[in-house]
Amino acid sequence: MDEDLEMLIPEETIRELVAGLAQRISRDYAGKDVLLISVLKGAAIFTTDLMRAMTIPSTIEFVQVSSYGNDTVSSGTATMTRDINQDIRGRHILLVDCIIDTGETLRFLFNTLNKRNPSSIEAVVLLDKKARRKTAVQVKYIGIDAPDAFLVGYGLDSADQYRNLPYIAALKPDAR
Ligand code: IMP
Ligand code: MG
Repeated sequence: MDEDLEMLIPEETIRELVAGLAQRISRDYAGKDVLLISVLKGAAIFTTDLMRAMTIPSTIEFVQVSSYGNDTVSSGTATMTRDINQDIRGRHILLVDCIIDTGETLRFLFNTLNKRNPSSIEAVVLLDKKARRKTAVQVKYIGIDAPDAFLVGYGLDSADQYRNLPYIAALKPDAR
C-alpha cells in the first residue's frame, strides 16, 4: 500500500456493510418505487454497488454539490452544480452519499429536494464522521462510524486521486 495511506476499512468489510444497508433498504422499500439520488463524484461507486446489492427494483439519478472542492476542509456552503431533470413529486427519494462530515451537503440536498414535494426523502451513507457534524441532519441508514481523519478510496478522493482504491484508507496528515 501507498506509504501516504493507512488502511481503515478493507474491501471485504465494505462489501458486508453495503450488503447490510442494501438488505435494510430493500425491506423498508419493498413494494415501493425508490429513486436513488447519488451525490457525485464520491458516491458513484458506493451507489452502484448498493443498487446491485438491493433486491428490489430502483432507479438512479446523479447530482453534484460543491462544498469541498479540492480542499481537505469543508467550506461550509453548498450549491448544486448538477441537478436532475425529472419531476420527483410523489417519489420515494433516497439520497446516497459515501460520507457525511459536517452535514452541510445532505442538509442542503434535503432542503432543496423537499421543496419539490417528494412522497418521502431519506438518506444513506456508508461512513459517518460524527465528530465533525456542524448541522443536525437525519440520516436513516448509516454503514459505520468513521474517525476524524481524511479518508480516501472507494470513491473518496484527495484532489480527485485515490477514488479507485477498493478499500478505504486514511491519508496521513503530512501527505495532504
Ligand atoms: P459535508 O458536507 O461536510 O457533510 O461533506 C460531505 C462531502 O465532503 C462528501 O460528499 C465528500 O465529497 C466530502 N468529504 C467529507 N469527508 C471526506 C473525506 O474524509 N475524504 C474525502 N471526501 C470527504
Ligand atoms: Mg472531494
